[in-house]
Amino acid sequence: MSTSSNHSDRTRHFPPDFLWGAATASYQIEGATKADGRGPSIWDTFSHTPGAVLNGDNGDIACDHYHRMDEDLDLLAQLGVRAYRFSVAWPRVIPEGTGEVNQAGLDFYRRLVDGLRARDIEPTLTLYHWDLPQPLEDRGGWVVRDTAEAYAVYVEAVARALGDGVERWITLNEPWCSSWLGYGSGHHAPGKHDIGMATAANHHLLLAHGLATPILRDTIRGAKVGITLNLSDHRPGSDDELDVAAARRADGNLNRLFLDPIFHGRYPEDMLEHYCNESPGFSVVREGDLELIAQPLDFLGVNYYSPSTVVDESRATQARMAGYIVATGDQFPDLRLRGLETPGRDRTAMDWEIQAAGLTSLLVRIRDEYTGLPIYITENGAAFNDYVDPNGHVLDLNRVAYLQEHLSAMHDAIAAGVNVQGYFVWSLLDNFEWAFGYSQRFGIVWVDFPTGVRLPKESFRWYRDAVASNTVQYARSPGSH
Ligand code: FCB
Repeated sequence: MSTSSNHSDRTRHFPPDFLWGAATASYQIEGATKADGRGPSIWDTFSHTPGAVLNGDNGDIACDHYHRMDEDLDLLAQLGVRAYRFSVAWPRVIPEGTGEVNQAGLDFYRRLVDGLRARDIEPTLTLYHWDLPQPLEDRGGWVVRDTAEAYAVYVEAVARALGDGVERWITLNEPWCSSWLGYGSGHHAPGKHDIGMATAANHHLLLAHGLATPILRDTIRGAKVGITLNLSDHRPGSDDELDVAAARRADGNLNRLFLDPIFHGRYPEDMLEHYCNESPGFSVVREGDLELIAQPLDFLGVNYYSPSTVVDESRATQARMAGYIVATGDQFPDLRLRGLETPGRDRTAMDWEIQAAGLTSLLVRIRDEYTGLPIYITENGAAFNDYVDPNGHVLDLNRVAYLQEHLSAMHDAIAAGVNVQGYFVWSLLDNFEWAFGYSQRFGIVWVDFPTGVRLPKESFRWYRDAVASNTVQYARSPGSH
């Protein structure tokens, strides 16, 4: 392919129109949770619940982006990216979840969109990045169908207000996290522990996506509509059939419960079977829902951080004997599996295994099994134990290495013919990392939280150069063949 240059040097070129970007999300950066009529979200409630978030951290102030928007837009301009992915907070726009639209909330995002346009940066707008209005959760949240319908009304309000300035629309960010971490493991807001609720939430989130898609198309001429999924490459720890089946269950829950309905118009049989005794579970699916969910899209957003290796829970001892470190339990006991760590492999501060080759295989699989649509990597990045050194620098060379390996792995996928058209680094800023509070820094810009001062890290300069040259110095990742 013409995207690869002469192999005698390590320079790899990306396609000429490749869309380089950076990403953030409303609750993680905005703060100002009571400003200008914003209503409470489930993350306000959850983060103020003792014990829910590390250190009792919350998003009340976060990066104070609400008041520092211009400074952050200037950082994006310095970075030289062509696109910025941000999310709109539903509780700013419709504070009660349904009913009155709050113009002041829309005005904030109008200023953001205009500020991006003024700097020649394309807004890429995520309509839902987990901050559900609390009044909707009080009426059942994503476990009930009404929430999907309320979402469609909210989407129309945002589309009408911002449609002329935004071309690329992402209906949902990582609906797996909203449903399975929110209602299943309780790790995220609203903190419920019920697999039947999680299954119903899974469906209602996808339904919300399906209801929003034609609204976006009807309201905005030329809108490009997609959804962002967090996907991973699940490998069995051995070729024992029990382990292969365990990896298949993990894949079913994380990947196929979303990819199959969106691209094939049906839920996977094995997962329907697995969850068949859960209540309400998949009993909430109504006739016509899957047709809505499977409407044609313009792109798929993929968030990739780490691969996973699993075995059947009955085979933990064998895995230990084979040299793996075996997790003691799993957040979803019904899946009957154990995660494995390969000793000696690098991990991030989140303890996520670093293996960029998993991104290549995931992208190739999406193309082979699901879709040839344009793919944007809408999130990829890593948390490390950064600090400001005595010279006032954050020399985050491990993040640079992570990004270099993942851009290389993405280039491998492009060279293999996968239609990857853009990449958004997670994240522009250190921010509120959900249940981990401020303890995990994913930014390419350091944020001093008590003062709000921003300081670009070494990775910011490295990424700026990659964007400017549209190349990466190829770095093979561990685990690639
Ligand atoms: C993803 C989320 C994003 C961020 C990264 C680290 O799951 O979409 O908000 O927290 O993980």
